[in-house]
Amino acid sequence: MAKTAFIGLGVMGYPMAGHMAAKGHEVVVYNRTGAKAEGWVAKHGGRAAATPAEAAEGAEFVMACVGNDDDLRSVTLGESGAFAAMAKDAVFVDHTTASADVARELDAEARAAGFHFVDAPVSGGQAGAENGALTIMCGGEEAAFERAAPVMDCYARSRRLLGPAGAGQLTKMVNQICIAGLVQGLSEGLAFAEKAGLDGEAVVDVISKGAAGSWQMENRHKTMLADEFEHGFAVEWMRKDLDICLAEARRNGARLPVTALVDQFYGEVMRRGGKRWDTSSLIRLLR
Ligand SMILES: NC(=O)c1ccc[n+]([C@@H]2O[C@H](COP(=O)([O-])OP(=O)(O)OC[C@H]3O[C@@H](n4cnc5c(N)ncnc54)[C@H](OP(=O)(O)O)[C@@H]3O)[C@@H](O)[C@H]2O)c1
Repeated sequence: MAKTAFIGLGVMGYPMAGHMAAKGHEVVVYNRTGAKAEGWVAKHGGRAAATPAEAAEGAEFVMACVGNDDDLRSVTLGESGAFAAMAKDAVFVDHTTASADVARELDAEARAAGFHFVDAPVSGGQAGAENGALTIMCGGEEAAFERAAPVMDCYARSRRLLGPAGAGQLTKMVNQICIAGLVQGLSEGLAFAEKAGLDGEAVVDVISKGAAGSWQMENRHKTMLADEFEHGFAVEWMRKDLDICLAEARRNGARLPVTALVDQFYGEVMRRGGKRWDTSSLIRLLR
């Protein structure tokens, strides 16, 4: 069992760190809002640290899952950040959905200081984190990835190394690009069914078994038909992710016309008060 730390006990990090403790790892947690860390310790044991640096002290593996690039820089390189306290040869695994640039920057910082960095964004949402069934897309050195793999396996259904630093974040961008267009297509299909006077449930029952079937159709059609969106993956997070995708595409020359359009639709959802609504709320713009 390893000496580990977990930084960022949000919707995702809280249960992920819990799975590590349940598998017997020694876990020191840090959360900006200290009460959440105290609550985690009351439930899972271990210890709460006052700063990311204190959490990282002496740990073999330090996992993080915070909001965006700036948050990640703050808990790693900021005042009392984890990087200043990382042990030689330790591995920092970042589960935040962030840019490939920040992953490469932190990888360079880690190398210079004699430890390792793996960018490891996840998919599977809150349910995946709670059930220990996340998919993890990794970038970094193979040896560091292999060493961290048994810790990630506490909450992963699958994990794969896709290339050097940044490759995990680039793969997560592909994931979000695929989802954006698909959710808009699903919204248009279901809104069309309503206008056509069809029974949405019956339509999905038939077409989900064919080529139109998808995770979104399977898991979201009921709430979309019921116009319920107070759950799932928040529109404001999706916009953050699409921003990252569009910036990367401007650099690498990829064309993302549909993704850019769907990003604007999400902007409209936010203007209607939907920043915390699930991403399937795109259908509201069509009703
Ligand atoms: N939720 C999902 O379904 C999902 C799915 C896949 C990927 N993700 C990605 O996973 C990451 C975390 O998502 P989440 O849903 O767990 O978010 P969340 O519930 O908002 O949690 C964010 C965590 O980061 C901490 N944090 C934010 N800014 C910080 C800063 N400047 N310094 C220190 N700590 C800071 C927060 O601390 P406080 O408690 O003090 O606010 C909290 O612990 C995001 O990058 C998100 O895009 C989320």
